[in-house]
Amino acid sequence: MAHQANPHADDTAGPFLSIAPDVKLGKGVKLSKFINLYGCQIGDGSKIGAFVEIQKNARVGCNCKISSHTFICEGVTIEDGVFIGHGVVFINDTYPRATNPDGSLQTEHDWKVESTRVKTAASVGSGSTILANVTIGEHAMVGAGSVVTRDVPAYAVVAGNPAKLLRMLQPEEVEAK
Ligand SMILES: CC(C)(COP(=O)(O)OP(=O)(O)OC[C@H]1O[C@@H](n2cnc3c(N)ncnc32)[C@H](O)[C@@H]1OP(=O)(O)O)[C@@H](O)C(=O)NCCC(=O)NCCS
Repeated sequence: MAHQANPHADDTAGPFLSIAPDVKLGKGVKLSKFINLYGCQIGDGSKIGAFVEIQKNARVGCNCKISSHTFICEGVTIEDGVFIGHGVVFINDTYPRATNPDGSLQTEHDWKVESTRVKTAASVGSGSTILANVTIGEHAMVGAGSVVTRDVPAYAVVAGNPAKLLRMLQPEEVEAK
């Protein structure tokens, strides 16, 4: 993926965008206001909604739509053509702690990032939480408000807490969209 010079990495970004100089933005990426990006990579043509945060070492592919108020943490890989609804939260630490046994605040050296992958053309409904160490398969559809605790097969429709299989998408349903 060719990356354009980060046009938001200077003072012209205004007060409503926080885009670190190390962010790699593809061509034609569309950014709303009130976005916080650092150390991440976003592919060509993707659109990022307001109040989205994307952390370092997270990757968003080409032609993705990331809706407002979503949090994409370190260790998350989102492949091409993925739809992420509003207020989706990813997780990268299954047993989080604020402090070490000696009472000191934990730093990134005190825990290990767990990874998550959302594969090509999958969709994640608004308000969902995606636990760590999960893969959401190609063209899968995660219902709104789901808590995804296990891998989701390609073309599966899942929903609920914990997310369960509702049905498999038919090829014609995928092509019709
Ligand atoms: C899951 C979804 C894709 C619908 O899939 P579907 O296969 O057409 O499912 P149906 O609407 O036929 O519902 C099937 C069952 O699942 C339930 N269901 C549907 N969506 C659900 C959800 N998000 N959470 C929990 N249960 C859900 C229905 O109540 C129904 O239950 P029942 O059989 O006991 O009556 C859709 O409801 C959804 O959540 N889409 C995401 C929308 C979204 O977040 N968009 C973001 C941009 S606005």
